[in-house]
Amino acid sequence: MKTYHLAKENSILNKFLAELRDVSLQKDSMRFRRNIERIGEILGYELSKELSYASKDVTTPLGVKSTNLPTNNVVLCSILRAGLPLHNGLLNYFDDAENAFISAYRHHPNNDAEFEIVVEYFASPAIDGKTLLLVDPMLATGRSLVAVYEAIKKYGTPKEIKIVSVIGSTEGVSYVAKHLPENTDLWIADIDEKLNDKGYIIPGLGDAGDLAFGAKL
Ligand code: URA
Repeated sequence: MKTYHLAKENSILNKFLAELRDVSLQKDSMRFRRNIERIGEILGYELSKELSYASKDVTTPLGVKSTNLPTNNVVLCSILRAGLPLHNGLLNYFDDAENAFISAYRHHPNNDAEFEIVVEYFASPAIDGKTLLLVDPMLATGRSLVAVYEAIKKYGTPKEIKIVSVIGSTEGVSYVAKHLPENTDLWIADIDEKLNDKGYIIPGLGDAGDLAFGAKL
């Protein structure tokens, strides 16, 4: 799996990431959501460089300009609820993309250390031959993303898969590389070294869903 790790290069992306991580700024949930959205826009712009293009004549009031435009049929697939701001950022750039939404959560039947991924709600267009963007802001264990892929497979076989994420763990990145098809690549802002015993990314940023939308029961 080819990994595009954007924070390795200096750019304004690092400021948005630092604000997301900063415990003294996280209480501002509007800024938190907007920073995730801005990172979605940057990841979308960067991955657009790897799409397929064809030339098209665009007629201006004064003439005709031949322009290379992307030809991919993009489907954005997000996991509720933490994925929504990242989804929005991508949709700002891929404004004619189709959209899939899935609910996946960690169910802890016995204790905090062990959990299974439960997939319930699923709404998706056909994905056959399309460019499928699997959107997950926190690629922690990678298990939710693989569960989503297993669920979406019944809607067709995509031409290619692009995982889009804000922060991942080295373990999560290896897990998805092992369990997703060969034609998958990863577009990620940053990768942290480890997970804690509850499956949270360390140092990470905390619970992205709670920070964006408030604590849940
Ligand atoms: N989900 C989050 O929101 N944060 C993590 O660190 C891991 C999973």
